[in-house]
Amino acid sequence: MTRAALSELSPPRLGVNVDHIATVRQARLGDSPDPVEAALACVRAGADRIVCHLREDHRHIQPRDVERLRGTVHVPLNLELSMADEVVAVALRLRPASVTLVPERRQELTTEGGLDVRRHFARLKRLVKQFQNQQIAVSFFIDPIEDHVIATARSGANQVELHTGRYARAVAPAQRKAELAQLRRAAQQAKRRGLLVAAGHGLDYHNVAPVAALREVAELNIGFSIIARAVFVGVEQAVREMRALIQRRPAA
Ligand code: PXP
Repeated sequence: MTRAALSELSPPRLGVNVDHIATVRQARLGDSPDPVEAALACVRAGADRIVCHLREDHRHIQPRDVERLRGTVHVPLNLELSMADEVVAVALRLRPASVTLVPERRQELTTEGGLDVRRHFARLKRLVKQFQNQQIAVSFFIDPIEDHVIATARSGANQVELHTGRYARAVAPAQRKAELAQLRRAAQQAKRRGLLVAAGHGLDYHNVAPVAALREVAELNIGFSIIARAVFVGVEQAVREMRALIQRRPAA
């Protein structure tokens, strides 16, 4: 069996987003709970990546958290950020293993849609170069639409993260099936164009398995559902339970 075929059979890597540990901390503007301590627990339980989002309004993760995560946690750190100069400067200074560029609106509760890669193509292409010059891999968070996949590949980005929010929100089985088919198509298109494929947003213990079963998806990034479960069972157990659900891939 070729290496490529083997990699499609192994389970996707799990990136755990620790933003909402910082959300709880910021509720009292104190020191705890500490996202770095949570990240270490995630890694002990088998997380392959730690993810955090430095939002422009610093509502949860602070630049200091990114710096401490970068210095303490020994798995690659994936920093999500918008194209805003201030957060780009922080990322270039702190040099996480990878960055994921996301659209951001001040009022939203969480990242609502994917990046409009075609609209911002020139700026994104410049950012890809800037980050890659510092050995930082670049991913774009996009809706699973071919135009955005093509533009992402043309920009020189290393990776794409497919927004699973519409799939996660679909209630009717036919709608969910259609959203999953769209994710599969976009994942295949991205892989064919040489992009590493990640997926995330709104994934939880009930809906993750079909996305994990998509052979082209090499990485899942999950935050809210794991941290919410951790309130009751602890961070390590919550991560272990998620890992168990993405372990096995039924034949496609
Ligand atoms: N991937 C990206 C690019 C995100 O912006 C987020 C939310 O911060 C996630 C994954 C994780 O989403 P959720 O918290 O719904 O699991």
